[in-house]
Amino acid sequence: MHSIEELRNIFLAYLQTENKIIEPKNLYEPNHYFLQIGGKRLRPLLLLLATDIFDGEIEQSLAASLAIEYFHNFTLIHDDVMDKAPLRRGFTTIHEKYNLNTAILSGDVLMIKACEYLAKVNEKYFKTVFDVYTKTAIEVCEGQQYDIDFETKEVVTHDEYIEMIRLKTSVLLAASMKIGAILGGAKKEDTELLYQYAENLGIAFQIQDDILDCYGDEKLVGKQPGGDIIQNKKTLLLIHAIEKSNANNDKRLDEILKQSVFNNDEKVNNVLAIFNTYNTKAFGIEKRDMYIQKSIDALEKINLNSEKKAVLNSLIDYLVMRDF
Ligand code: IPE
Ligand code: IPE
Ligand code: MG
Ligand code: MG
Ligand code: MG
Repeated sequence: MHSIEELRNIFLAYLQTENKIIEPKNLYEPNHYFLQIGGKRLRPLLLLLATDIFDGEIEQSLAASLAIEYFHNFTLIHDDVMDKAPLRRGFTTIHEKYNLNTAILSGDVLMIKACEYLAKVNEKYFKTVFDVYTKTAIEVCEGQQYDIDFETKEVVTHDEYIEMIRLKTSVLLAASMKIGAILGGAKKEDTELLYQYAENLGIAFQIQDDILDCYGDEKLVGKQPGGDIIQNKKTLLLIHAIEKSNANNDKRLDEILKQSVFNNDEKVNNVLAIFNTYNTKAFGIEKRDMYIQKSIDALEKINLNSEKKAVLNSLIDYLVMRDF
C-alpha cells in the first residue's frame, strides 16, 4: 500500500503533466492559476486511497482522480462568485483577479474537462462510474442552491442544514471514495459502506469548515475570516445562536441579520460575541464529533483487515481535525 504522502505526490505529478495553459489563454490561464495556488487535494487522495485499499492499480484511477479535482475546483470558482469571496487558498479568487465572465466560463470548461477525464477510465467500469459522477454533480448543485436559499430563510432546522451540507460537500467526498473503490474492484457492499463512512466524514468536514470560517487562523485557512457571518450563511453555528437568542428573548442577532448596510469586521465581531454567550462553538464541535462517530461505526462494518482500517481511521484526523 502507498502512504498518503506518496499518493499525494503521484497525483500532483499527474496534475502537473495534464494541467497546461493552451489557447485561448484567457480561458485556461485562470484555471491553471487556481489549480496551482494550493488546495489540500483531498478528493483525489480519497479516490486513489480507495483503489489502493482494495488492491487495485492506482495508475488506472489517476484520470478519475483528476476528473474529481477538476469538478471540485469548478465548484469552488463558482462558489466564490456566489459567496462574494475575495480570497481562496490565500490568493485572490478568480472573479476578483480576472472578472465575472472569466469565473463563469473558466469554471464551465473545468467541469467539462472533468467529463473528458472520466471518459478515460477502464471501459469495464465506465458506465457505473459515470452514473455515480452525474448523480453526485447534480446533488452538489442542489446543495449549493439550498445554501443560497437559506441565506434569506429565517428558520432553518438542524436537519435541513445537515441535508444541505450532505449535498453540497459530503457526497463529493463520498463519491470520490466510491469511484476509487469501484475502480479497485471492491465488492458492492464494501463500496456502499465506504460511501457511508465518507459521507459522515464529509458532514463532519463541512461542520469543521464552518467552524474554521469563524475561528480559524486566516493565514492557514486562506479565506476571508467570518465570510459566512458576513453573508448570513445558515451554518449550524448561526442556527444554534438564533435558537438560543429566541429562547432568551435576545434581539441582538436578529437585528444584525436584518442590517443591509454594515461594517464587515464589526458584524463578524458582534456575531462572534453572541456565539460566545451561547457556547455556540462547543455545540458545533459536539455535532462534528457525532458525525465522526457515525463514520467510525460505518468503518467497523467494512470487510477490510485492521491495517487498512487503521489507514481509513487516520483519515479522520487528516480531513476533520485540521486547522486549514
Ligand atoms: C472547500 O473544500 C469547499 C468545501 C467543501 C468546504 P476544500 O477545503 O477541500 O478546498 P481545497 O481544495 O483544499 O482548497
Ligand atoms: C462550499 O461550501 C461547497 C462547494 C463549493 C460545493 P463553502 O462555501 O462553505 O466552501 P468554502 O468555505 O467557500 O470553501
Ligand atoms: Mg464559499
Ligand atoms: Mg458556499
Ligand atoms: Mg466554508
